[in-house]
Amino acid sequence: MPEIEQAAAESTVLFEKYEVGRLLGCGAFAKVYHARNTSTGQSVAVKVVSKKKLAATGMASNVKREIAIMSRLHHPNIVKLHEVLATKTKIYFILEFAKGGELFARIAKSRFGEDLARRFFQQLISAVGYCHARGVFHRDLKPENLLLDEQANLKVSDFGLGAVKEQMEVDGMLHTLCGTPAYVAPEILAKKGYDGAKVDVWSCGVILFVLVAGYLPFNDPNLMVMYRKIYKGEYRCPRWFSTELRRFLARLLDTNPEKRITVDEILKEEWFKKGYKEVTFGDLGLEWKSEGDDVKDLNAFDIISFSTGLNLSGLFDSLKEVEEGERFLLKESPEKVVEKVVAAAASVEGIIVRRRKQCGVELEGCDGNFAALVEVYRLSAELVVVEVRRRDGNGGVFRDVWSNKLRPYLCAASSSTTSDREETGAQPVAGES
Ligand code: ADE
Repeated sequence: MPEIEQAAAESTVLFEKYEVGRLLGCGAFAKVYHARNTSTGQSVAVKVVSKKKLAATGMASNVKREIAIMSRLHHPNIVKLHEVLATKTKIYFILEFAKGGELFARIAKSRFGEDLARRFFQQLISAVGYCHARGVFHRDLKPENLLLDEQANLKVSDFGLGAVKEQMEVDGMLHTLCGTPAYVAPEILAKKGYDGAKVDVWSCGVILFVLVAGYLPFNDPNLMVMYRKIYKGEYRCPRWFSTELRRFLARLLDTNPEKRITVDEILKEEWFKKGYKEVTFGDLGLEWKSEGDDVKDLNAFDIISFSTGLNLSGLFDSLKEVEEGERFLLKESPEKVVEKVVAAAASVEGIIVRRRKQCGVELEGCDGNFAALVEVYRLSAELVVVEVRRRDGNGGVFRDVWSNKLRPYLCAASSSTTSDREETGAQPVAGES
């Protein structure tokens, strides 16, 4: 199996699919390379993580969490996770390639005017608000994690430190000390529990200051002095900041998290609202096209990657929980399975159904608490693999809608399922339990 060991990975082709090129970035646990999909020519970023390093530092759960988080996020200003591949020793995150590089590199050249800074800040808040509404907090927002695409649109990357709501401790607060000093909120320094949404808003305030000032609001060569400034909220706006911006920043950089402005309030602020275009459902990358129901045939690699043979199972154990999704075999034509999913969903009140190009169906409803993608792959002339994944919403609602209302219809009504597992006729694909 191909591996990338060193930065100068000359024409390494990963999984016969991605031709790996130059090194884009390097961190403690990961290296990021540019790569090209050999069949489509599409540029991607490949984040390579060593399993050994992860295991040695107890970071394995962070990577699993990162996968779980990123696969749930579909927003034009968030770096997309295309797929995750693995060998015995490495995990490869195949990510959307942000051609414009780091926003930080642009600020390093020169500070932005308020209008340009506002445009980036609006995109940042749109992405952050989208995550917060889904119980996901970034917790490490800083210019290095903000990338740009070809059209200079912002792309938030690196959810390695993101924490999901389920991780909250009993008092509803997060306790892990993390983040980068200059962007860290005072309540984190106080080592009290903190609210992930509030600390992200603080970091957004620091980012906005940096965009317009060209330097940090809280800085000192002595780390303790810098912390004290953060703790006291001591910063000075340069003379070129407008009065409206100063007022707005004071609301973002309020040291009291209880009084700090929320994302919902930011959306109503005059300074922020100027020229703001809200991201609509259609922009969220959910491409629902009804034309041509071409079926995806599984090749040998697909079958292997569905199985535990490449030891991917450890990465996808969340899928084993019914609250995240499942895979099973049906003896049915792919078209018929799609028809059944559509018909079953139509019988559940308030579920919106959209058919995908390649034998897939997207389902959404229950006041935003249910969102799933069902994909059907032809395994043989007679068999299909049905894969359902929760894309969003609440795990309990997913289980209720999928397992209790849709799946039984799909499986029980199937005239010739492959086995009689759990009376529904569904059977897991090799390697899944
Ligand atoms: N550096 C780190 N991640 C990247 C990405 N997704 N695109 C471009 N450069 C990156």
